[in-house]
Formats: sequence, C-alpha cells, structure tokens
Amino acid sequence: MAKSKSGSGAGAPSKAAMQAGGAPAIDIGLSAAQRAKIADGLSHFLADAYTLYLRTHSFHWNVTGPMFNTLHLMFETQYTEQWTALDLVAERIRALGYYAPGSYAEFARMSSLKDEPAPTDSADWREMVRQLTVGNEAVCRTARKVLKTADGAGDDPTVDLMTQRLQVHEKTAWMLRSLLQ
Ligand SMILES: [Fe+2]
Repeated sequence: MAKSKSGSGAGAPSKAAMQAGGAPAIDIGLSAAQRAKIADGLSHFLADAYTLYLRTHSFHWNVTGPMFNTLHLMFETQYTEQWTALDLVAERIRALGYYAPGSYAEFARMSSLKDEPAPTDSADWREMVRQLTVGNEAVCRTARKVLKTADGAGDDPTVDLMTQRLQVHEKTAWMLRSLLQ
C-alpha cells in the first residue's frame, strides 16, 4: 500500500504539508490519488443511493391498492434505513479529504439509476416493486466497484461500509423480487 509522503515525521511540518488555515495535510496512510479515486467512487455510490432513497420514499407516499398496508410500511422501513446510511457515505467522503455532492443536479449526473417516472397514475404496485428491485441491484453494482477500489488501496473503513451496504441492498432486492414471484 502506497503511503502519503507528506505530514509525517518529527519536527515542524513543511510548508507543503500545511493547508490554508494552518490545517495539516491529510496523512492517513493512503496516497492522494487513492483517496481521490475512492472518494469519486463513493460520490457515485451516494448519487445512486440518494436516488433510490427518494424513489422509495415517494412510493411510500403514492402506493395504492390491495397491497397498500404491506408496501407502505415496507417502503418506510427501507427508506428510513437508507436515509441514515447516506450520512455515513457522505462523511466517509469528507474523511478522505473531499467534499460530498449534495445537489439534485450532481446526483442526476452521477447516478446510474434510470430516472423512471413514478407509476402514480395507474397505481401499479407491481411496477413500483419492479423499479425498486432493479434500483437496489444498481446500487449493489456500484457498491461492488467502490469496494474493489477500496480493497486494492487497503481502505478497510470504506470496504466495511460498502460491505454493509451490499448486505442491505442485496437482501432488499431479494425481498422485493419475492413479492413478484
Ligand atoms: Fe410516512
């Protein structure tokens, strides 16, 4: 694993190791290139996860039909868990030294989830469940990419975070798919 050359060792830090405001340069045992690549991957993951969160929450609002109670509550469980996890992902990006994306324009540009219209007119609960099934799977694919990058750099906290997200989204995809079988 490559190590950052700046910020370590005894004595006064060099000028290059200091950032504006007197903060020391980041020196957590990952190179700047490694941190940048992982943070970029996490930003894409955040865009996917936020898009899925919003869709899940909107389906909680708009679902109708004989499955209303089951799906209204199931979607609430899912979006609540997803909302909490968004914060962990954004703060991991910050810990790596980068800013987290936080606008709808950025999320729309970076998300791999297809921007499908919510099926509110026909109140088709099956179409809602189908969209969330494939959406959870898209999040899994992005998480796997980030996990691979982080694993190669020895970034265990990001590997751990992506492993946890994979467990949740793979399980959610299975549960949603089961409703359609
Ligand atoms: Fe609600």
